[in-house]
Amino acid sequence: MGKVAIVTGGTRGIGRAIAEALRDDGFTVVANYGGNDEAARAFSDETGIPAYKWDVGDHQACLDGCAKVESEVGPIDAVINNAGITRDGTLMKMSYEDWHEVMRINLGGCFNMAKATFAGMKERGWGRYVNIGSINGQAGQYGQVNYASAKSGIHGFTKALAQEGARFGITVNAIAPGYIDTDMVAAVPAPVLEKIVAKIPVGRLGRAEEIARGVSFLCSEQAGFVTGSTMSINGGQHMY
Ligand code: CAA
Repeated sequence: MGKVAIVTGGTRGIGRAIAEALRDDGFTVVANYGGNDEAARAFSDETGIPAYKWDVGDHQACLDGCAKVESEVGPIDAVINNAGITRDGTLMKMSYEDWHEVMRINLGGCFNMAKATFAGMKERGWGRYVNIGSINGQAGQYGQVNYASAKSGIHGFTKALAQEGARFGITVNAIAPGYIDTDMVAAVPAPVLEKIVAKIPVGRLGRAEEIARGVSFLCSEQAGFVTGSTMSINGGQHMY
């Protein structure tokens, strides 16, 4: 059995592409998902990858969910913190719930998953975390004070945990995707999205597989000297 990797929000969009790429690399992959049972069933039927349902923003649910995965599949060696939501709106229109829910899931999820898995990786002397940030965490985005803060937080979280993990063989890196052709980006109003795409030098939205390729590298044995870094994959939209 290969090393075990878990991808949060792993049954759709970018997460699904990551799950499939890591499986192709020889990992034993498990996907976590938060809500869409139908998509998760279809994903597992089509890929053979098991899907476990829990809310990554719920601390206890993460501890319990990861313990279940470890007893049913094996010790978790790689965590891809990909689960995330948007609740876009200008500050004037954004509710406290919209703020808190995005922080709880997008940033809190990284903490919760690390708390559930770091000790085991440390004991075994090997581990990989890849946290999916965002161009909007680097550059900000109109209508996203919640999402930009959470994603920016992910970049700080990555650099801090990288320092703690380095001497135990645990690398911690982030990927900052630009606008990728997923359901999340499709929800951006068409005229707004058109303006955004017009500013992408490569001239198109990215593909989920293009993010997965980066994750694949960061999880590889050959990437052992890469830690605390952020890989931007954004078609040149923001050069950071
Ligand atoms: N900069 C400056 N002004 C802007 C602006 C911008 N980028 N975007 C809009 N405005 C202005 C508009 O011109 C408008 O001004 P006027 O009233 O003077 O004409 C005003 O702000 C209100 O704009 P909207 O009509 O768009 O306001 P709204 O309340 O209907 O919608 C919004 C606001 C929900 C934030 C909407 O603009 C929106 O959805 N924007 C897209 C946000 C976005 O990019 N989200 C990314 C989601 S995908 C993702 O997050 C994945 C990832 O990691 C990349």
